[in-house]
Amino acid sequence: MPRALITGGSAGLGRALAAGLVARDWDVVITGRDEGRVRAAARELGPSAVAVAGDVTDAWHRAALLAAVPDGLDLLVNNASTLGATPLVPLTRLPEQVLRDVWETNVVAPMALIRALRGSLLVGSAVVNVTSDAAVEHYETWGAYAASKAALEHLTLTLAAEDPDVRWWTVDPGDMRTQMHQDAFPGEDISDRPLPESVVPGFLALIDRRPPSGRYRASDLVPASARA
Ligand SMILES: NC(=O)c1ccc[n+]([C@@H]2O[C@H](COP(=O)([O-])OP(=O)(O)OC[C@H]3O[C@@H](n4cnc5c(N)ncnc54)[C@H](OP(=O)(O)O)[C@@H]3O)[C@@H](O)[C@H]2O)c1
Repeated sequence: MPRALITGGSAGLGRALAAGLVARDWDVVITGRDEGRVRAAARELGPSAVAVAGDVTDAWHRAALLAAVPDGLDLLVNNASTLGATPLVPLTRLPEQVLRDVWETNVVAPMALIRALRGSLLVGSAVVNVTSDAAVEHYETWGAYAASKAALEHLTLTLAAEDPDVRWWTVDPGDMRTQMHQDAFPGEDISDRPLPESVVPGFLALIDRRPPSGRYRASDLVPASARA
């Protein structure tokens, strides 16, 4: 069975994508800092899912992830991410430590995980780095997160140039009704945003079609009528 590792697979998009892959007979390794939550998610997903609790910024955790895929990997999804401190503030009021934390989680950790797992990526494998429209837009107060996603996109396409044996995709899932989105809009009713399950068909289409490395939007990968 093909095997995927999804960081931040205990909730939101990562959890929904894990369910989509398990339904297609993939084995999945999911991660998250809250051990109880990631274990519960793996239990709900069934015997094809394994939970490895930890923080992607922690090198020991990344070593544990390498150990969890002794037979190699067909898909790595760098999905875990942070907005930094919320409520979001304009850049001139952003503490440097928040900028460092955002960079550490959203840029350094995915790159470190790619480096740790490159030798485990099997022939025909792919890496998905989850991005955001914020990477290419300039929204007030989103600067730190947005710049980190822009950096992640740049690194992904450089990897594509350097290492063409792997497919390197960034995917913008679009707005989704998740904890991260609620944190970005504290107190706002976000019930009109689509559930993360609705964008999973886009990710699955990418995996099926294996288009060239590059930047994709989940909404462009499947017609609206085919979304959950
Ligand atoms: N929601 C949106 O509207 C939206 C829009 C565009 C892009 N995105 C992107 O989509 C991806 C998923 O976001 P989401 O909205 O699904 O988030 P979410 O619902 O808040 O879920 C985040 C997941 O990541 C885990 N996580 C967070 N920080 C982590 C860390 N340092 N180490 C390990 N795991 C960590 C969380 O578990 P723990 O908290 O237990 O660690 C959880 O499993 C992110 O890359 C985000 O930037 C989201």
